[in-house]
Amino acid sequence: MMRVKRVTRVVISDVDKESEQELRSYGRRRGRKPSARQAALLREALPRFAVDPAALPEAAQTWLEIGFGGGEHLLSQARRNPHALIIGCEPYEDGVIKVLSAIESEGLKNIRVHMSDVRDMLRQLAPGSLDRAFILFPDPWPKRKHRKRRLVNSLLLDLLARVLKPNAELRIATDIGDYARTMLEAFRQEPRFVWRAEGPGDWRVQPADWVETKYEAKAAEAGRRRYYFRFLRT
Ligand SMILES: C[S@@+](CC[C@H](N)C(=O)[O-])C[C@H]1O[C@@H](n2cnc3c(N)ncnc32)[C@H](O)[C@@H]1O
Repeated sequence: MMRVKRVTRVVISDVDKESEQELRSYGRRRGRKPSARQAALLREALPRFAVDPAALPEAAQTWLEIGFGGGEHLLSQARRNPHALIIGCEPYEDGVIKVLSAIESEGLKNIRVHMSDVRDMLRQLAPGSLDRAFILFPDPWPKRKHRKRRLVNSLLLDLLARVLKPNAELRIATDIGDYARTMLEAFRQEPRFVWRAEGPGDWRVQPADWVETKYEAKAAEAGRRRYYFRFLRT
C-alpha cells in the first residue's frame, strides 16, 4: 500500500515540473489606457530602443534586468554605469512607458527594452553574451495553486546559464520565504551556478551598489523580510 502511494506522488510531481516550465509568470500587461504622449512613446520610441537579441550592440559590459517594473533600478544602474549596456525586459506597458520617458528626457544611451517575456529573448541571445543579470522581486504568486507560475525555476536557470559568461553575477531578491527556499533548491541542483554567500546571514545583506525598487519599499513598509541572493556562473 505504502509503495503504491509513493510511486503515485513521484509521477504527479514530475508532471507538475513539466507543466510549470512555460506558464505565464506575469500579471497584467496593461494598466490605464495610455495618454496620447504615452502612446506616441510606445509607437515611436520603443522601436528605437528595442533590442535585437541576435545582434547586440558592442559594449564593454552587457547586463540584463528581468521584470524591471517601474524601472527604478534599471534607470539608476544605467545612469551610474554608462559603460554597461543594460537590457530591460518587462511585459507591463506602464513600466515600459516610464523607462522610455526617462530615456528620452535624460538622453540615456545605454538602455535597450524588450517589452515581452524574457524567456523568448534568452533563447535568441548568443551563448555567453551577458556579464550580469538581475531579477528583483519576481511576481510572488503566493497562492499554492499559482506557484507553478513563478519565474525562477529550473527552466529559467538553464536559459540563464547558457547566456551568462563565466563568473557573471546573477542577483535575485524576493520577499517570499518559500519562494526563497525553492530558488535556493533550484540553484543547488544546477552545477553551473554557485551561491556567493559570505556567511550564514548573507541573504539579509543588500549588495553595496543596491538600488531600492518600488516593490521592495512596499515589502519593507509591510514589514516583510527581504532575501538577497548573488549567484556566480561557474
Ligand atoms: C513584483 S514585480 C517587481 C517589479 C520590480 N522589479 C520591483 O522590484 O519593483 C515583478 C515584475 O516582473 C515582471 N515579469 C514577470 N514575469 C516576467 C517575464 N517572464 N519576463 C519579464 N518580466 C516578467 C512583471 O511584469 C512585473 O513587472
